[in-house]
Amino acid sequence: MEKKETFYITTPIYYPSDKLHIGHAYCTVATDAIARYKRLCGYDVMFLTGTDEHGQKIEEKAKAAGVTPKEFVDKIVTGEKGVLDLWKLMNISNDRFIRTTDDYHVEAVQKIFRKMYEKGDIYKGAYKGKYCTPCESFWTESQLVDGKCPDCGRPVHDAEEEAYFFRLSKYAKPVQELLETGEFLQPASRVNEMINNFIKPGLEDLCVSRTSFKWGIPVDFDPGHVVYVWVDALFNYCTALGFLNDKYDDYDKYWPASVHIVGKEIVRFHSIIWPAMLMSMEMPLPKRVYGHGWLVIDGGKMSKSRGNVVDPYVLAERFGVDALRFFLLRTFPFGSDGNFSNELLINTINKDLANDLGNLVSRTTAMVEKYFGGTLPQERQADELDNELMDFISNTKSRYRKQMDEFQLHLGLEEVFKLIQRANKYIDETTPWVLAKDEANKARLATVMYNLLEALRVSLTLLTPFIPESCEKAFDQIGADESCKAWENADKYGVLPLDVTVHKGETLFPRVDMEKTLKELEELEHRNKAPEAKPVLPDVTIDEFAKCDMRVCKVLSCEAVKKSEKLLKFQLDDGSGTPRQILSGIHKFYEPEDLVGKTVVAILNLPPRKMMGQMSCGMLLSAVKEIDGKEELHLVMLDDSVPAGSQLC
Ligand code: MSP
Repeated sequence: MEKKETFYITTPIYYPSDKLHIGHAYCTVATDAIARYKRLCGYDVMFLTGTDEHGQKIEEKAKAAGVTPKEFVDKIVTGEKGVLDLWKLMNISNDRFIRTTDDYHVEAVQKIFRKMYEKGDIYKGAYKGKYCTPCESFWTESQLVDGKCPDCGRPVHDAEEEAYFFRLSKYAKPVQELLETGEFLQPASRVNEMINNFIKPGLEDLCVSRTSFKWGIPVDFDPGHVVYVWVDALFNYCTALGFLNDKYDDYDKYWPASVHIVGKEIVRFHSIIWPAMLMSMEMPLPKRVYGHGWLVIDGGKMSKSRGNVVDPYVLAERFGVDALRFFLLRTFPFGSDGNFSNELLINTINKDLANDLGNLVSRTTAMVEKYFGGTLPQERQADELDNELMDFISNTKSRYRKQMDEFQLHLGLEEVFKLIQRANKYIDETTPWVLAKDEANKARLATVMYNLLEALRVSLTLLTPFIPESCEKAFDQIGADESCKAWENADKYGVLPLDVTVHKGETLFPRVDMEKTLKELEELEHRNKAPEAKPVLPDVTIDEFAKCDMRVCKVLSCEAVKKSEKLLKFQLDDGSGTPRQILSGIHKFYEPEDLVGKTVVAILNLPPRKMMGQMSCGMLLSAVKEIDGKEELHLVMLDDSVPAGSQLC
């Protein structure tokens, strides 16, 4: 058998700090459609996706949730309705899934880092920034709020931290030349943006290690440093093939990648930093990076903090996975931003899927059943009226292919829908219901039906990468067997058997009632918002819960901590006979004198902590909620009759 040409395609690996939203699904669905298209064309495809699981943000989120970083990411990646579940639901046909916490990746990244260090492309230097001592955090000038720490509002000072740097500056020229070829980065509009905004102002060496947090791949020759998350993440594209590890053995076969599909905000990492590091490693460069646009809402970015994220589970359950996949790729040009709305989604389903495609399948199969009992007779009688449809049947594939090879997915679909619309018009022109009135028209009527089935066969073959499940069902309805679905046959006429038998089945895409559905979606969104706001917490056992020593305390005294805007210092009667000191950052919500004598709840067995030079032995419990973007806090207070030292259980 002739060896197939390979095609290696990747999505960015997702950062599992929150549940994925429809914007993330957009990128993966698009990549999936391209991978399926290439398989259909006969390529040996490797489609990789995965998760990028290290970094300070995840460390912090895990800490806030009271779990280890690994437990935190495990829940979002492998837990219910997590990343893996979402890709299964969306019918993503990835061949491999990488997690950057996988051992083989960790070991390979350590070897890569060492290699660039030994070559002299990574060197030790000093990272300069603004440092907040109580928060142990470095900030850049632009991250400060009113010149102060964005986390705690306290003053920051200039500080230096030992760090490793990658000689990005050394590769500025070859990277610019690479970008200027016009082949490497697409769409073309992104090339100038990279050169003018990043390369021309001067590429500075890149800080590629951190010591201020732990959740990363350790630099094995200098403990205390962890590898910068982007270095760790970008090399996933190679380690997932077996580069510098024994887990897989596909590197020689698939590297360099045919294309990395990435969102526009991470084009810089993929088209400047990534090729520079590969040059340093003396590895072949990917053939193409394609930067797609964002799905936006009312012109703005979708984000959890704005409260406007759209849940793909809700939409897939309501409209079906294929309808959602189709909408994402049909409606928005892949290289530009697209404004998401439920109205647009419903309109697209009703027009293209229910009216044009769904109707063509159901009308055609219904007529073949009605006029011929489901099986066409062999007689044929052609007519001039057929010519235009015949042209569409023979030529749509090449027009579609031209668009698809340039990742113009919406235009590829447009070509298919021109054929579908032409076929619907052909029904009106040939008026089969009139032909059916006279037995003498039998051969002509059979020809009309056959031509419609052939137009459908070609359309369905070309739609398979986008709506695979529905195409399978529709192929079955029009009586197409495996060989009829082949790519090779998508520009031929006369592929279905002359005496084909159809099986009219369920409606493929029911029409959606706009008004009713919009209302339902609004209610659903509202209902889903509350759980959305909850942090992701893993289950705890009753034994684990019992380890928390939560006790009722009486406030003996309370005063503001000097030089701190937030902290109050409490002396508490916890029932032990010795007053307990706890510091709590709630001054914004309470005046100290109002709290004296109150009955509060504290967790006592947290490790003591120094804040603003004073010890805090435990933590007061409060109820916290964000309302209209503003944090509300209420100390948990009990009836004064509850004695100090009572345990909460
Ligand atoms: N972890 C990095 C990628 C590392 S690749 C070596 C990352 N992860 S991410 O989860 O934040 O984003 C993953 C992808 O989702 C990015 O390509 C990003 O552009 C895409 N999208 C996130 N929100 C999006 C929309 N609203 N619309 C379209 N794509 C969006 O970046």
